[in-house]
Amino acid sequence: MIRGVGIDLAVIDRFRNAEPGLLDRILAPADRDYIAKFADPSPHIAGFWAAKEALVKALSRTDIAFNRVAILHEPNGRPYFDYHPDEGRLHLSISHEKEHAVAVVIWEA
Ligand SMILES: CC(C)(COP(=O)(O)OP(=O)(O)OC[C@H]1O[C@@H](n2cnc3c(N)ncnc32)[C@H](O)[C@@H]1OP(=O)(O)O)[C@@H](O)C(=O)NCCC(=O)NCCS
Repeated sequence: MIRGVGIDLAVIDRFRNAEPGLLDRILAPADRDYIAKFADPSPHIAGFWAAKEALVKALSRTDIAFNRVAILHEPNGRPYFDYHPDEGRLHLSISHEKEHAVAVVIWEA
């Protein structure tokens, strides 16, 4: 059954010229490898931020260090968390447009 749902909307501009400290707090090493492929990584960073905020909401947990939760991708591009809740599993979807990124997380257990 669905135990929790989380959604978050992020402004992409916030992550343009972001101070390095912010990215260090947000991104796991695998996230950095992923965004390095893009000329403008900001939409992807904003999407990762939104995904991790949505994760916190879905699980109702505030003790998750964002830089320890990587977002990986299946060969077809579908994202998933490299993070496993104590029980059940997570579903993640991310989208970005010109100015905003949005993510939804469902916790099923
Ligand atoms: C995969 C697809 C849905 C992405 O949509 P988009 O509008 O280009 O891009 P969005 O900004 O909404 O979404 C991008 C995010 O989608 C996610 N994504 C990519 N491929 C995905 C897939 N196969 N399944 C689920 N999520 C996917 C990623 O998280 C990506 O963000 P990230 O790279 O920063 O992690 C799109 O490229 C696609 O293939 N659409 C098929 C459309 C189609 O077949 N139309 C037929 C018309 S007749």
